[in-house]
Amino acid sequence: MAGATNSRILVTGALGQIGTELVEALRALHGADAVVASDVRDIPDHPCVVGGPYRHLSVIDADAFDEVVTEESIGTVYHLAAILSATGEKNPELCERINVGGTVTVLEAARKHGLRVYAPSSIAVFGPDAPKHAPQVCPLNPTTMYGKTKVTGERLAMNYWKQYGVDVRGIRYPGLISYKAPAGGGTTDYAVDIFHAALENGHYDCFVRSDTRLPMMYMEDAIRATIALMDAPVDSIGDARGGYNLSGCSFTAAEIADAVAARVPEFTCDFKPDVRQEYADSWPDSVDDSAAKQDWGWKAEYDLDALCDAMISGLQSSSI
Ligand code: NAD
Ligand code: SER
Repeated sequence: MAGATNSRILVTGALGQIGTELVEALRALHGADAVVASDVRDIPDHPCVVGGPYRHLSVIDADAFDEVVTEESIGTVYHLAAILSATGEKNPELCERINVGGTVTVLEAARKHGLRVYAPSSIAVFGPDAPKHAPQVCPLNPTTMYGKTKVTGERLAMNYWKQYGVDVRGIRYPGLISYKAPAGGGTTDYAVDIFHAALENGHYDCFVRSDTRLPMMYMEDAIRATIALMDAPVDSIGDARGGYNLSGCSFTAAEIADAVAARVPEFTCDFKPDVRQEYADSWPDSVDDSAAKQDWGWKAEYDLDALCDAMISGLQSSSI
């Protein structure tokens, strides 16, 4: 357990939608030098690269991963590198290789070096047979390859905890809405893209039907939840450790379009469903997050109105 005394943090997939904000939050808490950002992409002027240590690292290269863990004295990994649902359905083999292969790399390194791990899951673990208000525990029969890789990730997390005592935790994130980095190729991207399109063109062609309802969350809530889960005492973490349901808010595509129109004069939205409609239809409308509330005190702060206000003022001030 060489890494047990090491205290630095490694974030994989750090240049993505969540990593961009999680690295910033972790560096604010622990100091810039304590948080090593990593990704397979190189973007020299990205805030995570400019703002602290950065390593080019593919999560499917187990030797390189071990080397970075040792060289950087890593004790905790936030494992965000993945291929999201829409990109994953275009290339299911790649999705399986990165999502399952990457998670195995991280968990094996955790077993060897005594690391703590955060590995997120998704609402995509649910399939069409799950109740539309999805409970924490129910049969998980996703139809997308992405969802299948997330179910595997949750099972691996539970196995590594039970067999090897690796403290790995995860959240089934809803669709995340943020303005600091683009959404990364998921089905819920319409709820991010609509704000960019509204402010840039006054119009959005939405790729799901107007009555499509999905669980969603503002990024600030998601980051707060992630840090709270990882800070919770180990004996408070129950059987949902591989993927806690987490509820932010739930709304239809028409409801978010109306909320944007109420804030952006003249905004119009057309609904032109494409293949992503199928993935959205296979997911729940909302989730029951009582396990997260009970085990580590989760409570959402942003509803649809609050997240719309935050998105629009964030995008307007970042374009000044
Ligand atoms: P993203 O697509 O924005 O970022 C993923 C990052 O991983 C990218 O920067 C990409 O370059 C990197 N990456 C891809 N292959 C890699 C590899 N082989 N090695 C290292 N890095 C690699 O994704 P995100 O939205 O930040 O999601 C992070 C995690 O959260 C993923 O596990 C995702 O499934 C999960 N999640 C996200 C959402 C959401 O709405 N954003 C919802 C549910 C779950
Ligand atoms: N937002 C993600 C996606 O749509 C859900 O995991 O892929």
